[in-house]
Amino acid sequence: MRGHRNIITCVALATTAAALRLDVNDEASVKEAASTIAQGLYVYHNPDSTAGQFNQPEPWFWWLSGSGWTGLLEYTVYTNDTTYQADILSALSQNVGPNYDFIPPEQAGHEANDDQMYWVYAALSALEHGFEPLPCEGARCECADHCVNSWLAISVNAWEGFVERWNEAIDTCGGGLKWQWNTGHPGFYYKNSVTNGGFFQISARLARYTGNQTYARWADKIWDWSTRVGLLSDDFHVFDGTSDNNGENCSGVNHDEWSYNIATYLHGAANMYAYTKGGPLWESRVKGFVETATSTFFTSDQSIMYEQKCEEARACSTDQTSFKASLSRWLGKTAVLVPSVREHVLGLLETSARGAAASCSGHGNSTCGMRWTTGGFDGQADFGTQLSALEVVQNLLATEGPELAIRPY
Ligand SMILES: *[C@@H]1O[C@H](CO)[C@@H](O)[C@H](O)[C@H]1NC(C)=O
Ligand SMILES: *[C@@H]1O[C@H](CO)[C@@H](O)[C@H](O)[C@H]1NC(C)=O
Ligand SMILES: *[C@@H]1O[C@H](CO)[C@@H](O)[C@H](O)[C@H]1NC(C)=O
Ligand SMILES: *[C@@H]1O[C@H](CO)[C@@H](O)[C@H](O)[C@H]1NC(C)=O
Repeated sequence: MRGHRNIITCVALATTAAALRLDVNDEASVKEAASTIAQGLYVYHNPDSTAGQFNQPEPWFWWLSGSGWTGLLEYTVYTNDTTYQADILSALSQNVGPNYDFIPPEQAGHEANDDQMYWVYAALSALEHGFEPLPCEGARCECADHCVNSWLAISVNAWEGFVERWNEAIDTCGGGLKWQWNTGHPGFYYKNSVTNGGFFQISARLARYTGNQTYARWADKIWDWSTRVGLLSDDFHVFDGTSDNNGENCSGVNHDEWSYNIATYLHGAANMYAYTKGGPLWESRVKGFVETATSTFFTSDQSIMYEQKCEEARACSTDQTSFKASLSRWLGKTAVLVPSVREHVLGLLETSARGAAASCSGHGNSTCGMRWTTGGFDGQADFGTQLSALEVVQNLLATEGPELAIRPY
């Protein structure tokens, strides 16, 4: 073809790919759309690659695979489609590590607290939804509070590691969990929201599930610390992090706002609301987060979720394109636990899911884009955009799913 001026116009090819069909009021339609998007996510799955990982442009996005499996696990629960169930169990068991806490040897030297947490969320969801337990043998599965099943044992084992690492870092900032636990990483000096919000959420979910007040006391403590250093503001903004480098002692705060940070604290607060049997303090905090998330991460004209820090500039990184998955997931699960915000949250998810479905018209095969506000595919597609679209659509089903379990004894 070189040298040949081919003047075929694009008209014949411009059969604009139809957007994914989605009727947000029809359960069958939502399930079908979610199924199509899940297939688009699964093209990233490479059974030949490192155990249980999704292909990524670089090797260190292990946490995103954890988030992906959490999303697919909840997909399985919400839709009853068991296509991925065997792979989910296989991937989780290959990454749980010899101590049953999601510290696999392959991640040694790289793994950060928040990376581990994004796998622990899968274990907690499995626990809350009565998912088939992983085989788990030995001392790490055999202590009084843990024995109910392996998902609880794994979650508690990880939680105990976070407590240890909090205590190791107690000399700065009056507490707070560091982002990284490997001293060589720059994030070793960052005490940030995704990490401390994650510890808060895991504590709160364990408190709700087990009724054990040790976890609730930790949730309160992490909440108080987060407020004191200024990661949480009085009007429920959640800022990215604070530093204990060079004697800074958490005196300054990075005020960037990302959707997954507020989502992380939101769902922790929802679990504390449930743990306290509908306590008004936690309800007001849930409402505060929902209001602030609405004004910060949803467009004022169309009420569509967007990653305000990077999306319009098309500058979201491989991590950042996935953050809306976290916000969708934990808004949906918050609506399950806190009836007073349910209607508002479902409204936000519906407008956003419609936008997301319209974006799922890429490459002629329903690939989803990043910007849900454009009414079409914007050309930016990766694992994170696909996972975000899946979560916003499947969470329309969250409040119709089975109730979240509590410990049966
Ligand atoms: C859709 O097309 C893109 C580009 O060709 C491809 O990478 C992707 O695997 C396809 N997705 C599905 C679900 O077939
Ligand atoms: C899933 O299947 C189970 C049993 O097969 C049924 O009880 C349940 O209602 C189904 N859930 C959904 C969301 O369709
Ligand atoms: C409550 O949880 C803590 C922390 O995991 C544990 O040490 C303790 O044994 C638990 N208490 C009961 C009564 O199970
Ligand atoms: C660092 O801050 C904590 C409380 O936030 C305080 O207790 C401690 O004294 C401070 N350390 C230094 C060296 O200023």
